[in-house]
Amino acid sequence: MKEHLIKQAISILEENFQEGGFTIPCKGLYPFQWKWDSGFIAIGQAHYDMEKAKTEIATLLDAQWQNGFIPHIIFHNESDTYFPGANVHRSDLSPLASKKYKSTGMTQPPVTGFVLDEMYRIAEDKEDILNYIATQIDNVYDNHAYFYTHRDVNNEGLVFIYHNWESGTDNSPIWDDIWKTMNPPDYTFERRDTTHVDASQRPTKREYDHYLNIIEIAKEYHYDDAKIAEHSPFLVLDPLFNAMLIKSNESLIHLYRLLGDTGKVVQLEKWQEKSIKGFNEKLWDDKLNAYVHYDLRKDAPIRFVTSSSFSALYGGIPNQERADLLIQTMMGKFGDEELYLCASFDPQSDRFDPKKYWRGPVWINMNWILYNGLKRYGFNDIAQRVKEDSIALIEKNGFFEYFNPIKKVGDTEKIGYGGNNFSWSAALLIDMLK
Ligand code: DGY
Repeated sequence: MKEHLIKQAISILEENFQEGGFTIPCKGLYPFQWKWDSGFIAIGQAHYDMEKAKTEIATLLDAQWQNGFIPHIIFHNESDTYFPGANVHRSDLSPLASKKYKSTGMTQPPVTGFVLDEMYRIAEDKEDILNYIATQIDNVYDNHAYFYTHRDVNNEGLVFIYHNWESGTDNSPIWDDIWKTMNPPDYTFERRDTTHVDASQRPTKREYDHYLNIIEIAKEYHYDDAKIAEHSPFLVLDPLFNAMLIKSNESLIHLYRLLGDTGKVVQLEKWQEKSIKGFNEKLWDDKLNAYVHYDLRKDAPIRFVTSSSFSALYGGIPNQERADLLIQTMMGKFGDEELYLCASFDPQSDRFDPKKYWRGPVWINMNWILYNGLKRYGFNDIAQRVKEDSIALIEKNGFFEYFNPIKKVGDTEKIGYGGNNFSWSAALLIDMLK
């Protein structure tokens, strides 16, 4: 069972674990706690040290704001290896921010609900884990209530993101046309990411100007969601983000039932029904046969196929007929035998770049979401291929952040990019192998 890989993965997670009770995504490049990273990391930790997994999530939820919001980065410590840090994000501008921790004023995909459910699945001592879940689950529920109260501007069960970093797919070509609608200043700042990673694998300076500009606008409004919804140049319905919320709703319903606490289930079921309906009505593209992003500023879909399009399977969102169409699209565009599954952006598009972060490379967290989604709908052979490709990429190249999907490039050079000894690659490999 690839014991050597599991051993290596555990030692990476142990190295990246910090005294404050959280795990950094990787040294230098990402020296704090990141929201969705922490979730995936806890799934890996749960296999060998459940107490650590519990701590990881409890630390994350300890940084929750008064309104239920969970920030994307929690700055537990000082570090000069990352830009933009706490003094740029200035969470203190929001009256609702945590008084205990400095953080960003943006969030990341809501994975925490299904992470608790995965911890339950993995735990041998079900009673013990349920006792733990009982201490945390209301915080996650409050986070969902925050999304449905403050981020569903059209009351359609779909929640917006206001920054590309909230999507998790930071520099996806999806955002290119939004950048064209903005004209940010040419800011002066010192990037740190490109001191750790080759610039060809990271976003451009001009992209960073856009990223910073949206933060400055949100700061002007003290991170008030209603004002952000009115004024942010970036306002998007993201299929990955909403699929994670839907999957987490389902998990919370499952866990509250197990806890014998059905008080919140009625509300969760209402949200869930509305979200699944909204997702299928608004994000499905009949010509592409895929789920796509939706630009709320332009009130128009963003018509590209990405690995986020397929995350709906994990959320149980499409019916079987639509799932079949989605898989035809996936295999038609991404499934060539000369490619590792699954590129993060349509390999047939002229915007595809196999080396540049979220513009094409394979990501292990997306593969894990896809693997579980494919199994849910009975696409077992393709699920197996996703799993085997993930293992092969890590075994041949190391525990990198992302990988070139083009197999033949890997014959002559290393095709692992970004941060090395990357925590979620390690954590999710453990889960896939176990
Ligand atoms: C980065 O700095 O690239 C991070 O991914 C933002 O979350």
